[in-house]
Amino acid sequence: MNPADLHAVRGEILHFLADPASHGEAAIEHFADGLLLIRDGHVAETGPAGELLARLPADVPVTDYRGKLILPGFVDTHIHYAQTDIIASHGEQLLAWLEKYTFPAEARFADPEHARAVAEFFCDELLRNGTTTALAFATVHATSVDALFEAALKRRMRMITGKVMMDRHCPDFLRDTAAGGYAESQALIERWHGRERLQYAVTPRFAATSTPEQMRLAGRLYAEHPGLYLQSHVAENRGEVAWVAQLYPEARSYLDVYDRFGQLGERSVYAHCIWLDDTDRQRMADTGTAISFCPTSNLFLGSGLFDLGRAREMGLRVGVGTDVGAGTSFSMLQTLNEAYKVLQLGGQKLSAASAFHLATLGGAHSLYLDERIGNFLPGKEADFVVLDPAATPLLARRMQGAQTLDERLFVLMMLGDDRSIAATHVLGRAAWQRSG
Ligand code: GUN
Ligand code: ZN
Repeated sequence: MNPADLHAVRGEILHFLADPASHGEAAIEHFADGLLLIRDGHVAETGPAGELLARLPADVPVTDYRGKLILPGFVDTHIHYAQTDIIASHGEQLLAWLEKYTFPAEARFADPEHARAVAEFFCDELLRNGTTTALAFATVHATSVDALFEAALKRRMRMITGKVMMDRHCPDFLRDTAAGGYAESQALIERWHGRERLQYAVTPRFAATSTPEQMRLAGRLYAEHPGLYLQSHVAENRGEVAWVAQLYPEARSYLDVYDRFGQLGERSVYAHCIWLDDTDRQRMADTGTAISFCPTSNLFLGSGLFDLGRAREMGLRVGVGTDVGAGTSFSMLQTLNEAYKVLQLGGQKLSAASAFHLATLGGAHSLYLDERIGNFLPGKEADFVVLDPAATPLLARRMQGAQTLDERLFVLMMLGDDRSIAATHVLGRAAWQRSG
């Protein structure tokens, strides 16, 4: 052991050992005055501060976060970095929103300097919001992927991204070809996949903007390289669903289009999944395909209400995504807030514990990363967020009346946002700290 690499943080610690929706209280580990001991960027031990401090050499540095709540870093399972600058664009639903705002914004990523500047801002904004792992869309330009991986590498973040594959039904300046998209993706995989904490995701935008030939090649790429991700969108908007049915009349459903091209499986993640039926859900469960639930986006674009209860009943892997820029916040707290409301409209309840599980271990599980991140078990990568329960006057006031841990967590997810993030640590080290 190198003593120089051993350090600790002290504060109220909360993490999940399983899903509280199925395992109840036993899923939650909570230390009111806890210590997280970190060695070489990984969790060495977690427990009551008094007990651990008594055993530690006196010279181990301890960062004092007492009065704050320490949770595993948030996992954003669906976000578009190139849409950072069009967040909060008024008035359209999915297909018109893509044409009017998204495609023009993504065209600017042909310029590597623009891509670099946005990637830097984007990674900082994730960290300001406590997010340490993201599965993100880049654009059709290979250099946009380089820019995001470089920005994440500098910050040692866990980043999964890929070049958008899109060879029809989009402006010429954003269109690749089936063969060209395959070759460019292949080169990016060789350059980036598995380097430090970076992983590659094959990224067909959605079935409507890829020809059957491109869909076939995307499926092939995903099958050819072990450990690759695949990300796309499915069953988000009713107009989109009808359009895809016209484009692929032979498919049983929208999800079935992806299935026919070999795009379901482990580490394959679909955003939205609103307009699915149980046959689709069963197929996702059987193949280990995951869902990214994107509540702020689904409300903003008027897409519909995700059925988390049914996905859970059928044993699906589900994470939460901000889906910026159709999503309206980088904040996972605000995303949980809207998740709660979406489920209310569907007559379902989301407990605070279940919500924070979704944002941490649940998200990690949906990405098949729960062996590495998502909680504070020994050996995990020490990514964590330090939450300030009294970040605003209203939060401080409301917290005074909160009796239980569950109540405090609920107040935090309803009233909290980026102001509640006191610090974000990546591999043990502070990557962002709120001033003041
Ligand atoms: N479907 C295809 N592309 C997109 C996108 O950029 N955002 C959302 N929300 N849905 C999509
Ligand atoms: Zn999206």
